[in-house]
Amino acid sequence: MTAVIVKKKTAKKGTASKKKAIKKKAAKRRDGGPETVKSKLYASLVVQLLSLLKGEHDLIANAANFSALLFNSLPNVNWAGFYFLHGEELVLGPFQGNPACVRIPLGKGVCGVAAQQCETIIVPNVHEFPGHIACDVASNAEIVVPLFDGERLLGVLDLDSPLIGRFDDQDAEGLNELATVFVAHEEGLGL
Ligand code: SME
Repeated sequence: MTAVIVKKKTAKKGTASKKKAIKKKAAKRRDGGPETVKSKLYASLVVQLLSLLKGEHDLIANAANFSALLFNSLPNVNWAGFYFLHGEELVLGPFQGNPACVRIPLGKGVCGVAAQQCETIIVPNVHEFPGHIACDVASNAEIVVPLFDGERLLGVLDLDSPLIGRFDDQDAEGLNELATVFVAHEEGLGL
């Protein structure tokens, strides 16, 4: 397989317009829009995440529960968690999976490139991604979703899978929706 990096523009919308987009999407579902098993799974994860976040505004607690929700609900995922932006580098946040590298400079690895380019990056085969940082030998595919508070980059949400080609545009869409819910819950996450 040749190296393929699928990039999906992450709209750096304001929180209000992001919330509007999520409501529009929910209305489309109610109107009988196209649904797949994956989109149903992500829709159910949005409901579960909202319930986990309800009444709680502690960043570490909420990020820990969010990563556990993803790790235990999405099939074939061996790592799910956060890196938060501190200055010019990403620093490991709450996660589920094997211990991981703590600091990633902007522009390095899949996480650093996604953060620097402000784009969601889907990597079908991490062994073909130049500069990929290996934290778990079991990881073969990866998706990284940048987290924004309006225009401000807060960090990234990172998921690894042992399955080559595990993540697709539907995962990118679903994870972006979940990330938006998470950030909107507490503007800026106190970061
Ligand atoms: N693979 C990532 C490093 C983080 S781990 O996957 C948890 C990267 O290349 O940035």
